[in-house]
Amino acid sequence: MADERKREFEPRIVAFFCNWCTYLAADLAGTARLQHAPNTRVIRVMCSGRVDPQFVLEAFAKGADGVLIGGCHPGDCHYQEGNYKALRRYNLLKRMLKDMGIEEERFRLEWISASEAERLKWAVDDMVEKLKALGPLNFEVPREDFAGEESVA
Ligand code: FES
Repeated sequence: MADERKREFEPRIVAFFCNWCTYLAADLAGTARLQHAPNTRVIRVMCSGRVDPQFVLEAFAKGADGVLIGGCHPGDCHYQEGNYKALRRYNLLKRMLKDMGIEEERFRLEWISASEAERLKWAVDDMVEKLKALGPLNFEVPREDFAGEESVA
């Protein structure tokens, strides 16, 4: 029964894709009719360095089973060092999430250039497969943790 439920489970992945690379790779995958799992909800950001750790925590708190960040390859960031900043944040956040009981497969950073539609397909499909094996996150956040949410501009 539990195995059957796991098989039917479709993970929700919040994907933050850099406008200059991974977002274009996703676009290319679409125009090339390269099919990948439809489990991502893509949020376009101008650089992977723009992804604030708060965005990731909020995605998990609001029901995501996984978070994927896609950025330009090291050395190719349009803002020089945004992706290095993303990498530093990713490493810290990954440790923090692990302490919170969130498995490391649920949070992922990939370097995917605009021409790498195949790599995008692989990253999404691979993440979906791993999340299906893990099952839903069911991350409960006490309501009082979001008590001040409305006041944030
Ligand atoms: S511009 Fe793509 S990661 Fe910075």
